[in-house]
Amino acid sequence: MTAAQKTPAAGLVPKVPVISARGIDMVFLKKQPGRLDPWLRKFGLPVAEPLGVHALDGVDIDVMKGEVVGLVGESGCGKSTLGRVIAGILDPTAGTFRFQGRAYDEMPPQERYRARVAVQMIFQDPFASLNPRKRVFEIIGEAPLVHGLVSKDKLEDYVDEMMLKCGIDPAYKQRFPHQFSGGQRQRIGIARALAVKPQFLVCDESVAALDVSIQAQIINLFMDLRRDFDLTYLFISHDLGVVEHIADRVVIMYLGRVVETAPTEALFDTPRHPYTQALLANMPRISTGKQAFGQIIGEIPSPLHPPTGCHFHPRCPFATERCRAERPMLRPTGPNSQAACHLIEETP
Ligand SMILES: Nc1ncnc2c1ncn2[C@@H]1O[C@H](COP(=O)(O)OP(=O)(O)OP(=O)(O)O)[C@@H](O)[C@H]1O
Ligand code: SF4
Ligand SMILES: [Mg+2]
Repeated sequence: MTAAQKTPAAGLVPKVPVISARGIDMVFLKKQPGRLDPWLRKFGLPVAEPLGVHALDGVDIDVMKGEVVGLVGESGCGKSTLGRVIAGILDPTAGTFRFQGRAYDEMPPQERYRARVAVQMIFQDPFASLNPRKRVFEIIGEAPLVHGLVSKDKLEDYVDEMMLKCGIDPAYKQRFPHQFSGGQRQRIGIARALAVKPQFLVCDESVAALDVSIQAQIINLFMDLRRDFDLTYLFISHDLGVVEHIADRVVIMYLGRVVETAPTEALFDTPRHPYTQALLANMPRISTGKQAFGQIIGEIPSPLHPPTGCHFHPRCPFATERCRAERPMLRPTGPNSQAACHLIEETP
């Protein structure tokens, strides 16, 4: 990828948040309240309390127009949940959410609907998200027709254009998903998302299931589309090498919380948060070619019973009494950078 692909307009990314979230909480109840609970209580019998997984715990995130933000963290830390909340697939339990500066709650239904369509999600397994009984023409053309983005007589040309933009031969538009390879299926999934003219793509491990050479092609496609359609990305990935390569900025999550964010170069050069330092220290470089992070000492705590204070304290070599008692909040650590750790001094 060229520098121009990574940082358009001579590296100047305009400071307009497309997505702005504050205090986002997402709790999944593992045990729903039972219908007999009130009766059990009335007769003094034991009642199991509803148990919740706090998948997102007070997440603040801004994504500026034109940015590619990499979202990284160990399995189960809440990356997909955050992606789904941002894409409007899940309603958060609490928190405020703005699209281009407008709060969703305050939008009239039609505007809210348009805002939801403007954010599209690309999943890891395109096969699972493509209807096996529909032909590619219908898969790509259905939504823009329903949303009134294109008239029926222009649909054929429109689908051809989307397919060409995504590197699929329009001659294949009457085929079914199973007649394509994994990489081509992912291109169909991208063309389907692109067809509703989104402004923001949430890519959730979108290249993880592909061979390395195909991964590079799909990543290049994402970056070309970014330039051609003025797109903004949240790119969720286990692969730090991919994130380092394509992201302008990286957000690190741990057990439902954002613990650090910084421009990519700064984060990889001088990670500030002990968790980020551990992730990067475990990132095998050139020797193995494998770029995913390795195991950090200590187990990931259960999200059903997260540690008190700083969630990372049981695994952190620098933990103090304060860390065990008090949650560290995100504070500025440099230009466009923040970290949540009691040991890190705030940079004005
Ligand atoms: N629909 C759901 N119902 C109940 N719990 C859920 C649901 N979706 C996610 N969770 C829980 O929320 C937490 C965060 O899950 P999430 O899938 O967002 O993590 P992730 O960071 O994307 O992990 P991975 O890297 O494995 O994809 C996990 O503990 C998970 O078990
Ligand atoms: S707040 Fe304390 S436990 Fe948490 S990362 Fe910082 S030093 Fe470690
Ligand atoms: Mg996930």
